[in-house]
Amino acid sequence: MTRSRIAGMGHFVPDRVVTNGELSQHMETSDEWIHQRSGIRERRWVDGNVGASELAEPAARSALAEAERTPADVDLILFATLSPDLNFPGSGCLLGARLGIPGIAAMDIRTQCTGFLYSLATADAMVRSGMAKCVLVIGSEVHSSGLDISTRGRDVSVLFGDGAGAAVVVASDDTSMLLDHELHADGRYAEILMVEVPASRLQPRLTKEMMDEGRHYPKMDGKAVFKHAVEKLPALVHSILGRNGYTLDDVAVLVPHQANMRINELVARNLGFPPERVVHNIQKYGNTTAASIPIALHEAVLEGRIRKGDLVLLAGLGAGLTWGASLVRW
Ligand code: UT7
Repeated sequence: MTRSRIAGMGHFVPDRVVTNGELSQHMETSDEWIHQRSGIRERRWVDGNVGASELAEPAARSALAEAERTPADVDLILFATLSPDLNFPGSGCLLGARLGIPGIAAMDIRTQCTGFLYSLATADAMVRSGMAKCVLVIGSEVHSSGLDISTRGRDVSVLFGDGAGAAVVVASDDTSMLLDHELHADGRYAEILMVEVPASRLQPRLTKEMMDEGRHYPKMDGKAVFKHAVEKLPALVHSILGRNGYTLDDVAVLVPHQANMRINELVARNLGFPPERVVHNIQKYGNTTAASIPIALHEAVLEGRIRKGDLVLLAGLGAGLTWGASLVRW
């Protein structure tokens, strides 16, 4: 049976570094609070009008170069984002135009922090079924234009950063392959992390009053999300490893979604997994949602922390709720 592999990766973050100290000039917060609660020291924010597809382009081009492919080889774009350039059409279409590949299928995947994992699973299925040969998988977010940068929004706005990651998925011709994916969603918890408006379920979708109330900014019950993450992620890790006949001892590196350093430390501790084999980069970038796993994975590869033959586990949880994991033989 045809299997698929990641042939190359790329990532891109904006140049503008926003430190916790800079945020404390706009709201009542402090480096100490942000770092202690989340692990974040700084994040990257775009300067001016830059959308998710613009951030994705350099990440995509790097991934294609690393995979020794060109845009002309791509036959499907999967674009994971919760911050699309426009409400519609999707950012995948816009990225296709940027890459100069008209006519190539493109779809957006709207599963927030697990968007890259849902996209990777979809890419794997498309290649394995023969429906696609070279899938460009993107996770890209511009959060900064949608945050309430004031004391009212401080619980959320200090956490999020902008960035993009990309992977090129093709048929595997050796031992490197995507082994398995486990994906979940539970919409009963949709309201613990959401942007409420504009909303098709409201008429009108957006009013000045709604904006005055800040209902167009993300709202999060942080403690509830935290609890779901530390409960669901260890169970998910055991499940995907168990059904593939592996144990934690076989896993070289765990690349978790970068939502909160404390979540990832607790998950590793609950699993009994060595902390030095967990990848963290939240201190530099904050939470970049769909971009966080591909950025962290690519950095770990570039740093030599992941080598050919390693068993790599990717896992995350976020708005939806959605949660998922992918098991990769590098
Ligand atoms: O990828 C998406 C998934 N998201 C997550 O996984 C996030 C999960 N949750 C978390 O990471 C944590 O819940 C947070 C980091 C968001 C918050 O940490 P916490 O320990 O749960 O703090 P809290 O929300 O209970 O807030 C504690 C206090 C409150 O003040 P009072 O009520 O105790 O007086 C907040 O108003 O901290 C206050 N606070 C802040 N203070 C300074 C909230 N945000 C800030 C801030 N700076 N930025």
